[in-house]
Amino acid sequence: MRKRMRGFLAALLCAAVLLSLFPGCSRQEPEKVEYLIGVSQANMRESWRLALIRELKEEAAKHPGVRLIFTDATQNSDKQIADIRRLLACGVDLLIVSPCDVKKITPVVSGVYKSIPVIVMDRVVEGYDYSLFIGPDNRSIGKQAGESVLRMLDGIPGGVLEICGSTGSQTSAERSEGFQSFLKPYRQLDIRKISIENESRDSTEDYLLANREKLNGVRVIFAHNDYMALGACRAIEKLGLKNIRIIGVDGFTGENDGIGLVRKGMIDETITCPTGGREAIQFSLDILRNVAGVPKQEILHSHKVTKENVDAFVENLNKPQTAPPQTIRVGYAQVGTESAWRLANTESIQSAAKEFGIQLFYENADQSQQRQIQALRKFIAMKVDAIVLSPVIDSGWDEVLREAKEAGIPVILSDREITVKDDDMFLTFIGADFVEEGRRAMRWIAQNVPSGGKKGGVRIMELQGTVGASPAVERTVGFEEILKEYSGYQIVYSRSGDFTYDGGKRIVEEYLKNHKWDIDVVYAHNDDMALGAAEALEKNGIAPGKDVKIISIDGTKNALNAILKGKMNCVVECNPLLGPQLMKAITDLMSGKELPLRIITDEKVFTKENTEETIQSRKY
Ligand code: AHR
Repeated sequence: MRKRMRGFLAALLCAAVLLSLFPGCSRQEPEKVEYLIGVSQANMRESWRLALIRELKEEAAKHPGVRLIFTDATQNSDKQIADIRRLLACGVDLLIVSPCDVKKITPVVSGVYKSIPVIVMDRVVEGYDYSLFIGPDNRSIGKQAGESVLRMLDGIPGGVLEICGSTGSQTSAERSEGFQSFLKPYRQLDIRKISIENESRDSTEDYLLANREKLNGVRVIFAHNDYMALGACRAIEKLGLKNIRIIGVDGFTGENDGIGLVRKGMIDETITCPTGGREAIQFSLDILRNVAGVPKQEILHSHKVTKENVDAFVENLNKPQTAPPQTIRVGYAQVGTESAWRLANTESIQSAAKEFGIQLFYENADQSQQRQIQALRKFIAMKVDAIVLSPVIDSGWDEVLREAKEAGIPVILSDREITVKDDDMFLTFIGADFVEEGRRAMRWIAQNVPSGGKKGGVRIMELQGTVGASPAVERTVGFEEILKEYSGYQIVYSRSGDFTYDGGKRIVEEYLKNHKWDIDVVYAHNDDMALGAAEALEKNGIAPGKDVKIISIDGTKNALNAILKGKMNCVVECNPLLGPQLMKAITDLMSGKELPLRIITDEKVFTKENTEETIQSRKY
């Protein structure tokens, strides 16, 4: 009732405002509007953005209570900021924003997020002040293009032309980074790079006709979108050049879009870059209806489409979902029992499997990669329907994952990511953004532990997790990234405590044997190590939380209690309750639905100001 009333009032307000500000946008039946969603688009001239708008509209049309209002920032950040204000003035219930300039839009999104949910699309803003991000992995698109270049050259050296989008475009920069860094080791390649400022077909064609020498000796072109790829195709034809292969990006299904061009043989490959419009509307409704389990980020899959697989690809797009099989058998290879976080993680996965009626085979590897590999081989021999792997360390998985792939068993990574030569070895990753956790830890230190011109700056001790494990590597990377921005802080001591309580305690004890205590902040990669360190400090007459600030990652009940007792100062949350999202993903997969590339969980930062409200309900 309240909702309908609000919808009605918003509608009245909008009827007046919208008609003047957004011609063509009016609510003909305001009383039927349940949710009003504002969409602030960076521009409405790029084909990809128009496709996003189309998809948002198509999906919204399936939900009668949803109305969308669109604004076009014409690639001007000041206009986008004004657009967002106008959408707010219309009383939108949720904002979808695809930013022109991430840096300028970040504070605006943060402000809006205080009052309504915000979904960020395509380019992610800084920090975590938004409800959900949906977008592609542009570096991976660039890497995939690099793989295709190698395949097309087939060992014969030749020129490669990369056609980038406009110089300031973050998307284009990321694609180029992925492409160039993948091909860097292949020194025999002659890689050239040009930028087409308005990213259009005609400008690409004109440029290449006017700069023919750029094509001398070129055997493969990688264009950052299908329209520039088409422009390149036309130029090549006009110049009478032969045997140049072309790769584009986007893969929309219209006749003159990537898929149509592949079918007609005008380009050789398109790498799909989904818009995420459908997901944005579905998640908007989940957020507005307070449905649990909405992730923080959903990174979408990109596929290579060539003449060989184009029909299968299109057929798959239109394939209806089926009911999942009665019995789903899943092998689950867990890291071990090293921390309270890990125990909660195992419990969440086991109980979610029960709820979803999934038969789960659990193997605990006790932090040994060898044991995990044995467990995977056992699951392969059992012919399970899917494998969930929470890898102890980041590398060394290629061989066993190839065996799983050959056996046709999909692998889902849970909690930790891996580095493999071929990214097709696993289907999706569900877990946290460890780099962001590290960044958040250092941001908190910079804001709460003043360096105040202290000689030598603020001295930080880092308690690292297991050597080679992705949370240890990435939490260091994120922390150091922010650390570089501040001159008054330095890591003076860093050791691995293997994510255990005893490990954290041992590092502090060892330090105290050889040094007088001169540390201002202990930064621990997990709560167990922080709590172990706190015990060692107390035993030595140093008050944790007071004489030395303690910050860690996880958010277990013990750590939250330590915050309330003043023995720890801050905890960056890392959510172990991955079970429901994992089981949902497995059920979706078994019903024929495509999974995203990565699903990143939502997490908070706890300090004494906000811990009380969470601790009551914390189960681990
Ligand atoms: O991979 C997640 C990390 O592993 C948690 O932060 C830590 O407590 C655990 O053991």
